[in-house]
Amino acid sequence: MMTNSMIMNIKIWFVNLIMLFAMIHGRAINSEFRVKAVSLGGWLVTEGWMKPSLFDAIPNKDFLDGTGLQFKSVTTGKYLCAESGGGTILVANRTTASSWETFRLWRINEETFRFRVFNKQFVGLDEINVVAITNSSTESETFYIVKKNDTSTLVRIKASNGYYLQAKSEELVTVDVSEVRGWEDNDPTVFQLTIAARLQGDFQLTNGYGPIKAAQVMKEHWSTFIVEDDFKFIASNGLNAVRIPVGWWIASDPTPPWPYVGGSLHSLDNAFSWAQKYGLKIIIDLHAAPGSQNGFQHSSTRDGSQEWGKSDENIQQTVDVISLLTARYAKSPSLYAIELLNEPLSPGVTLERLTKYYKAGYDAVRKHSTAAYVVMSNRLGPSEHRELFPLANSFTRPVIDVHYYSIFDDLFENMTAQQNIDFIYNNRSSDLNFITASNGPLIFVGEWVSDWRVKNATKEDFQRFGKAQIDVFGRATFGWAYWAFKNANQHWSLEWMINNGYIKL
Ligand SMILES: *[C@@H]1O[C@H](CO)[C@@H](O)[C@H](O)[C@H]1NC(C)=O
Ligand SMILES: *[C@@H]1O[C@H](CO)[C@@H](O)[C@H](O)[C@H]1NC(C)=O
Ligand SMILES: *[C@@H]1O[C@H](CO)[C@@H](O)[C@H](O)[C@H]1NC(C)=O
Ligand SMILES: *[C@@H]1O[C@H](CO)[C@@H](O)[C@H](O)[C@H]1NC(C)=O
Ligand SMILES: *[C@@H]1O[C@H](CO)[C@@H](O)[C@H](O)[C@H]1NC(C)=O
Ligand SMILES: *[C@@H]1O[C@H](CO)[C@@H](O)[C@H](O)[C@H]1NC(C)=O
Repeated sequence: MMTNSMIMNIKIWFVNLIMLFAMIHGRAINSEFRVKAVSLGGWLVTEGWMKPSLFDAIPNKDFLDGTGLQFKSVTTGKYLCAESGGGTILVANRTTASSWETFRLWRINEETFRFRVFNKQFVGLDEINVVAITNSSTESETFYIVKKNDTSTLVRIKASNGYYLQAKSEELVTVDVSEVRGWEDNDPTVFQLTIAARLQGDFQLTNGYGPIKAAQVMKEHWSTFIVEDDFKFIASNGLNAVRIPVGWWIASDPTPPWPYVGGSLHSLDNAFSWAQKYGLKIIIDLHAAPGSQNGFQHSSTRDGSQEWGKSDENIQQTVDVISLLTARYAKSPSLYAIELLNEPLSPGVTLERLTKYYKAGYDAVRKHSTAAYVVMSNRLGPSEHRELFPLANSFTRPVIDVHYYSIFDDLFENMTAQQNIDFIYNNRSSDLNFITASNGPLIFVGEWVSDWRVKNATKEDFQRFGKAQIDVFGRATFGWAYWAFKNANQHWSLEWMINNGYIKL
């Protein structure tokens, strides 16, 4: 006869056995090591992630790819506009300028450009009329932008046939003026230029310098921006990993397609040897996928468009990048995880296309590594926080990446320091609980920063805000990564924050 207490003991023993089994074979073991990482912007060159002077020296640097220009006719006092956003003529009859009145540059060289309109057609000529009907960049017209002088905002637009564009009337825009003189305000070829948008990413930098100079600039950047001492600093300041954002062209190093330049892969090799030396783990993060998965400059979009994932070839090309990177580093003890894609943006990236890619990307990683975690970013934009669960649950070592910034959403506009801190402890904390399931994928707060919209915050406010985030994000089952290590903005530089006592780990 077994007594109740014997039965109880057997039960406890059995439960312990199961827990031990889970610890060894299951996911519970992961909770022992949680990533405390920092992202090393630096393989990609986006505004703020590198020395600002990198962009400063580009010739005619106001006119890089993707710059959004608006032209107000000095005679009509109205803006040039691609009627209907594109697909028909240009007019000069708008009193205010926004999307249809903004022309995105494609830079052909320092002084020659194509203009892309809202619906993505390129500006061209139909006899002497100006239209936006062609989808083909190569068949579209090129234009010069002739400035009055370097400090003036007055410009003329000259077509490749040497004729100038004029706002003949509010409803008629033509290219038929061969001789111009002066900059009088009764001259229909003269426009006042506004720069409404700028992009600063890898596409802009490399195409801005052109291939020869860009190769020198990037070589210098990679060999000086993040160096061995940084890995030493990271390892000796309480961090155990780095997240390294890379661009898709790294896979064809040393001869990537135009306009990119070689050298990024060699520099990633250095990162792996330094990481090994200082005992750091590496999370490789595909931050810029071909075509751009979010239209942001950090995914190396040319003009703000988001084209990634639209064709099967494009997805396959992306999978090949993952495959190459995993194969190259699978044997390194530092390779900890492969992040298949950073910040895909909904609705441009649909769940269906993303799922297709994540499946294939996961298989590509597993072909070369059984150990590497596979990180899948939740979509930005309209999406459901657990939408990747069904997919992730069919994988081993899956991780979901979520990014928590207290900056971009207008929600934070008028919050005080204390309200921001409370938001972390209440709101972020419950969001994290909501996406953490005991048998679900691990959760990674792959980006956060100790910065906010609070205007008069004290150092102590920052310290409390940083601590709140480390407390809450420290509960993420995979861990967290601060954005970033070095940055032009002090609070976005973990190096600066640590050196100045704003963050303690
Ligand atoms: C340009 O592209 C749009 C959208 O893809 C399409 O509807 C249109 O027919 C295309 N126009 C031409 C001239 O090919
Ligand atoms: C450039 O144009 C501005 C504005 O029209 C004018 O005030 C300035 O004198 C011009 N500078 C030179 C060097 O011509
Ligand atoms: C501008 O001109 C076009 C072409 O005549 C016309 O269709 C459109 O309604 C005009 N828009 C405004 C705001 O006047
Ligand atoms: C913040 O305050 C300003 C000024 O009072 C107000 O216009 C704005 O709507 C507020 N923003 C939010 C998100 O509440
Ligand atoms: C977080 O805050 C937003 C805005 O106040 C609110 O809509 C949302 O329900 C909150 N979420 C949680 C999990 O508390
Ligand atoms: C400055 O901080 C105080 C509290 O420390 C707050 O009441 C006040 O609204 C803040 N002012 C601004 C402009 O943020």
